[in-house]
Formats: sequence, structure tokens, C-alpha cells
Amino acid sequence: MEFEQEIARRRTFAIISHPDAGKTTLTEKLLLFGGAIHVAGAVKSNKIKKTATSDFMEIEKQRGISVATSVMGFEYNGYKVNILDTPGHQDFAEDTFRTLTAVDSVIIVIDAAKGVETQTRKLMQVCRMRNTPVIVFVNKLDRPCGDAFDLLDEIETELKIGVRPLSWPIGNGERFMGVYNLFEKSLYMYEPSKQTVQEGVAVELSSKELDSRIGETEAATLREEVETIDGVYPEFDVQDYLRGQIAPVFFGSALNNFGVRELLHCFLQIAPQPQTSHAAERDVLPQEKKFTGFVFKIHANMDPNHRNRIAFVKICSGKFERNKAYKHVRLGKELKFSSPTAFMADKKSIIDEAYPGDIVGLPDTGNFKIGDSISEGENINFRGLPSFSPELFRYIDNADPMKAKQLAKGIDQLMDEGVAQLFVHQFNGRKIIGTVGALQFEVIEYRLLHEYGAKCRYEGISLYKACWIESDDVAELSEFKKRKAQYLAKDKDGRDVFLAESNFMLQMAEQDFKKIRFHFTSEF
Ligand code: G4P
Repeated sequence: MEFEQEIARRRTFAIISHPDAGKTTLTEKLLLFGGAIHVAGAVKSNKIKKTATSDFMEIEKQRGISVATSVMGFEYNGYKVNILDTPGHQDFAEDTFRTLTAVDSVIIVIDAAKGVETQTRKLMQVCRMRNTPVIVFVNKLDRPCGDAFDLLDEIETELKIGVRPLSWPIGNGERFMGVYNLFEKSLYMYEPSKQTVQEGVAVELSSKELDSRIGETEAATLREEVETIDGVYPEFDVQDYLRGQIAPVFFGSALNNFGVRELLHCFLQIAPQPQTSHAAERDVLPQEKKFTGFVFKIHANMDPNHRNRIAFVKICSGKFERNKAYKHVRLGKELKFSSPTAFMADKKSIIDEAYPGDIVGLPDTGNFKIGDSISEGENINFRGLPSFSPELFRYIDNADPMKAKQLAKGIDQLMDEGVAQLFVHQFNGRKIIGTVGALQFEVIEYRLLHEYGAKCRYEGISLYKACWIESDDVAELSEFKKRKAQYLAKDKDGRDVFLAESNFMLQMAEQDFKKIRFHFTSEF
């Protein structure tokens, strides 16, 4: 197949949701369609118990299993579909943000009864920042839920995106009869089943057949509602979707395999193929002949005896080939990869080549950091993998004087993986770990001990936020540093960070030092 055709047939996306909305179930059903797995339940095990905050074994299990399920590729109707998994637990939100930088579109799953929930709102912010095209799947229609129009209003206001229903539910809960697919103009009757898939029947809205299939009252309601939809919502325009302005909405029940295939079919038709990537130096088109890519995720190996890791590389342009020498841009050195892996559903295998849109896993012994770029020689640095201002902080100290080296190395490598952020307090020289979730502290302590044989001790530190500072006014910056000496730190790249103890303190600083810019993400 031609290089350009290979690119055009790829769809790389992530499914995001608030925990419990049905992301795992939907992923699994999509994989079943793709024939990538054959048993329901295969993806299920890739879940951290949502309530667990201190179940280390769960964390470990999650990390281990998710190497294989981090990316789930499958072939379907001539398309190569790559689903990138995102952790469900909110403490791993930053992982999810980074994964979103490697996809071309997303599917958002919403629980029909619960509506838009916190985590969904946060993740949508990231999508909006990048104008990522979004399709919404309203799930669990087999459960009682509110009015579909109200839900659409809620999605529009809460997620700040226009919506356009492409299917419409007929009843819900016990009285859920099915959906009318506005995209295909066909009727899908609901029959609860976890394994079989219902076929749609082409039924015109105005036909008598509709009445005989769903009953006169329901048919009348459906006609009325579809009329309202056509009156209220603009006609679906793929370009609006591709620009991230309008989200098409589907209704269904993932658990019952209902509405999933229609979702997949429409997704394949409208979702974008691999898109332009943005580097600091220039924009990179997937069709360019030379290979470029970046690391968006690093996974430590489960086996403590082999401290190797897998760096997940998103291919931005060109063809990636096994055993070819590529340039690690940050280190300025050539590397060859003899066993790059591709991920197909629940297994991974060594591959010889991969194309833009694909994710390859590169075994790594410590060369890679999150955000590193690889190329065929060009000095290119992909952007868009910012660290966010952490909100939870602790001093980290060595609890075993004999293992200082191991501790330092462990901390370094975990930070490279993006588990948390490290700051060095400029006033007392102590190391501070900053995270977005409480679970990370336990993960770090556990992994330092089990993978590096190092023991750490935490000490609480009361901080509101850490933010990056810069200014073109050298005098003001130095005045700021003098006045705020107790609250300054350096990040791992040696950049200045202001540690604000409270929101008030931050506001005062912003007021007093107008020529200083305070940044809440590391990329500015
Ligand atoms: P998540 O990955 O977004 O966290 O959600 P997940 O798929 O694990 O689904 C959360 C729960 O919702 C699961 O039940 C799942 O079976 C259920 N669910 C998913 N889709 C539907 C649906 O369309 N209808 C109904 N009624 N339920 C649905 P659980 O009891 O937490 O897990 P399990 O014991 O069933 O595995």
C-alpha cells in the first residue's frame, strides 16, 4: 500500500470519561467489533479499583497489564484503528492529559443518568485547548435517566461545545426501545444482550412502518422530537466537528452492545486521519517522508530485576523502521531499535515498520524522558506536553543513608516518566515532590523501594501552587527573587518556580510584580 494511503486509513483516538461512565466497557465492545479480542472481559482486568487509594498491588497490577493495553490497535473495514487507553483514576489525570497530545480525536462517554461529571469537564478543557474533534456517546440508556434534550443542554453548557445528535433514543430505562439513527436514517430496536449486535432497519420517519414497530404514541413522540432537533440544532457539518466546534452525539448502551457499531461506523467516516504536529521549530506534516516522533508516555517494567522501560512514541511523520538509526534530539545521539513493539489489542509484537498515527513501544534503559523527540537527523522539538502546576506537595528525604545514590537515581527516573514533578527549594536546598493526585506519593514510595531498593520519607509542606515565573525585566525579576527568597525553587530543568503558600499570596505577588509572568503550565 502507498505511504499516503497508510496514513489516510489510520484513526488514532482516546476514549475519555468520568470513572464508571463506561469507558472500559465501550473500549471492549469496540475491540470485539474489530475482532481484536474474542471474549468480553479481556480489557476489564486493566482497571485500578476506583476506591483504592492505597492498594499497592492494584497499582502494580495496573501498571503491568496496561503495558499491553495502553494502546489497542485493530483492523476494521480497511481502517487501522488505534485506541489509546487513559487511566481511569483521577490521580493519574496528568497521564491522561499527555495521552491526549498523541491522539487526533476523542470519544467522550457520558453516563445518561449522571450527566457531565467533574473528570469529563477537566478532560474536555484539554480537548478544547487543542481543538480536538470530539464525539459524545451517551451511555447506559437501559437505565432510567432524564430528558435527552436537557442532557444535550447540559453537555453544551458544561463542556462548552456545540452538539448535534446523530442518533436519538426512544424511551429509556425499562421503557428503552431503541434509537433512531439520524445519520443513517434507520431504526435500531433494543434487545438487551451482552454479546449479540442488533441490525438496523431502514425506516423513514414518516412511514407507517415506524408506528407498527414502536407503537403509535412513541412514533408520534419520536417524529416530534426529531422535528425539534432539526429546528434547534444546526445541520451536521463535518468541518465543524473537525474544527472542534460541534460534537456529534450518539446514544446507546455499551454493556448491551447497543449503539456501539453505529458509533464506530460514523467515527471511521468522519474522524480525522493523522494530523499536523507542532514542533517548536516548525509544523510537521504526517506525509513528510522523513520519520519524526515524540515520547508521550514511559512505562516502567514490572520485573524489578530488569529495570528496563518502554517509551511510547507517537509517529508524527514518515515511516518508522526497525534497526534504522534515529536521532535522539535532546541527547544528540543516534539510537537503533532492534525490537520496537506494536500493540494489537491485548498483545504486543515486534514490528518492522510503522506509520504516522501509530504508536510504537521502544524498550529503553533510561535514555528517554517524556516529551523527547526522535528524528532522522533534524533537530526538532515537539511541543504540547506541558507539566501542569502541581497542587499537592511534600518534602522528600532519604530514610536510608546507605542508599542515597539509589534514591537520587530512582527519583530522577520516576520524574522522567512523568510520575510527579521535582523541585529543589532554593532557600533550604531540600527536594520537593509535587503531584496532581495523592496516590502518586504512595506510588513513588512503593516504587523507590521495590525497583531501586531506596527508602524515602515524606514531610508535609503547606503550599497552594507552584508556578513558573519569567520576566523581560531583569531588575524586577531580581527584586522579586530577593523579596521572595523563601518561596523560590528550581524545576528539574533549572527553571525558576514560585511556591505560593496561598491563593492570596499568589494574587499579591501578581499585583506587586506586574512585569513578572506567572505560568501554570511548564510550556509557555
Ligand atoms: P469506566 O471504565 O468508565 O470506569 O466504566 P466501566 O466500563 O468499568 O463501567 C462501569 C460500570 O457500568 C460497570 O459496572 C459496567 O458494567 C457498567 N456499565 C457500562 N455500560 C453500561 C450500560 O450501557 N448499561 C448499564 N446498565 N451498565 C453499564 P460495575 O458493576 O462497576 O462493573 P462490573 O461488575 O459489571 O464489571
